[in-house]
Parts: sequence; structure tokens; C-alpha cells
Amino acid sequence: MKLLDRIAIVTGGARGIGLAICRAYLEEGASVVIADIDRSAIDAALATLEIEGCDASRLMGARLDVCDLRSIDAMVASVVERFGGIDILVNNAAVFDMAPVLEVTEASYDKQFAVNVKGLFFTLQAVARAMVDRGKGGAIINMASQAGRRGEPLVSMYCATKAAVISLTQSCALDLIQHGIRVNGIAPGVVDTPMWGEVDALFARYEKRPLGEKKRLVGEAVPYGRMGRPEDYAGPAVFLASDDSEYVVAQTLNVDGGNWMS
Ligand SMILES: NC(=O)c1ccc[n+]([C@@H]2O[C@H](COP(=O)([O-])OP(=O)(O)OC[C@H]3O[C@@H](n4cnc5c(N)ncnc54)[C@H](O)[C@@H]3O)[C@@H](O)[C@H]2O)c1
Repeated sequence: MKLLDRIAIVTGGARGIGLAICRAYLEEGASVVIADIDRSAIDAALATLEIEGCDASRLMGARLDVCDLRSIDAMVASVVERFGGIDILVNNAAVFDMAPVLEVTEASYDKQFAVNVKGLFFTLQAVARAMVDRGKGGAIINMASQAGRRGEPLVSMYCATKAAVISLTQSCALDLIQHGIRVNGIAPGVVDTPMWGEVDALFARYEKRPLGEKKRLVGEAVPYGRMGRPEDYAGPAVFLASDDSEYVVAQTLNVDGGNWMS
């Protein structure tokens, strides 16, 4: 019960890594807000968690579009009204797209930066304001990626957004630690989620591969011996949210089976 009575918001919490983190936080005693743009996925996630035995009084779904500042403010206000404050934010919502540099469109650029960078920053800002008002500090975890550690020829925009997440994690941490708010990040490697289904289909198109081949190859190339699973992120996300990481500030932790060292 490392997070007993804490209140946590997980953006993009309705599926994939976000949902695994919601499950882990509930098991550690937190109240959890699944904040996602996909209302039907939120409802499905809430139903699954309740079937698994989660206490409905510690669960909340909130439709959120991180690209819309009014939506962020409304979500934060509704969480404060329901639970009385916020202790933990997992800034996990993101979108992926890829194309050769010569074919990247303005729409793809705008969408990825709007969700992965602008949305992440203004969600952090709104939650940090609520944390400062409450005066009890907090923990914020930004979901970066190994893609933010180095470039990839077909993935220039997504890589750039995730490099920005690592940079924002550092700057926001240095500013907010004066309020007792610890900001850190997690850089996943390749994780078997719905997002990687979409990634595989794009690689199949641009590298002219059969569907599923890229996913198999990247999994085989991980030093650990397999792709990540959403539940591999539960422990690190609990650690960075809990008092166990009290002196950890401004770090982005690689959780990737050994893919990247820094
Ligand atoms: N899957 C991987 O291999 C991998 C690797 C590195 C980093 N990551 C990062 O980990 C995080 C989770 O990845 P995942 O694979 O679970 O993704 P996913 O696509 O399976 O889930 C993302 C969730 O974010 C939500 N979302 C999208 N746009 C939103 C918006 N505007 N507002 C609110 N919610 C929105 C989606 O509805 C979805 O539920 C992301 O930040 C991703 O970039 C994933």
C-alpha cells in the first residue's frame, strides 16, 4: 500500500500502459482517475476494473482532450471536487505517426506536438497549480520514450516530441521542486499495446514488410528477449509516485529491457 489514500490522475489511462498503471495504483491503495479522450474506452476500462474487484468509490472516469485547455481545467476541477485534491499525475496520453522526412505533413506535425508536448505541458501546469494551492506537494510522471533519446529516419516528429518531453521533465522539475512537487519521466522501449499495432501497420507500409514482421523483429532485438508489456510499467510508475523515490528529481528512467543506456 505504497500509495494509500493518494489521488492519481492517469491521462490516456483507458488502455495500454496507462491502464496498467491505473490498475497498479488501485492495488497500492490510491484513488484513480482514468482521464482519456475515448469515452467508450474509459467505460470499458472502468467496467473491467470493477469486475476485477476494484472499489468503485476509488475510481473515476473523466473525458479529457489534452489539446483543449478548457477540457484540462474542467477535468482538474472535477477531480478536486470529487476527491479534494491531486497527489499524482501520470502524463501518459500521446499519439504516434510516422513518415519519411520528405512526406511529413503539417497536420501530422501539429497533431503530434499538440498531444504529446502542448497537451502534456498544460496538463502538468493545471495539475501543478492545484497541487501548489493545496500545499501538499505531489509527484508528476511524464511518459517519454526511447524515441526521445535518438533520431529515427521514419519517426522524426514523434522522436522530437519525446525529446521535448524529456527536456520539459527536467525544466519543470527544477521549477516545481520548490513546491515539493517531484517531476520525473519514464522512457519505455517497445511495448505491446494497441499503439504498437498501429506502429507495426505504418512500418509495414513504409518498409514494405508483411504485417507483424516489424513487431516481431523489434521484440527479438530487445536485450531482455521480448517486447515490453504494459504491466512492466506498473512497478516503475509506483516507485516514481511513491515516497520510495522521494530524492529522485528531474530524471527520465529508461524502462526498455536494456534497449538504451544513458
Ligand atoms: N507502446 C510503446 O511501444 C511505447 C513506447 C515508448 C513510449 N510509449 C509512450 O507510452 C505512453 C502510452 O503508450 P501506449 O502504447 O499505451 O499508447 P496507446 O495508444 O495504447 O494509449 C494511449 C491513450 O491515450 C489516449 N489519448 C490519445 N489522445 C488523447 C488526447 N488528446 N487526450 C487524452 N487522451 C488521449 C488514447 O485514447 C489512448 O487511450 C505514450 O505516451 C506513448 O508515447 C509507448
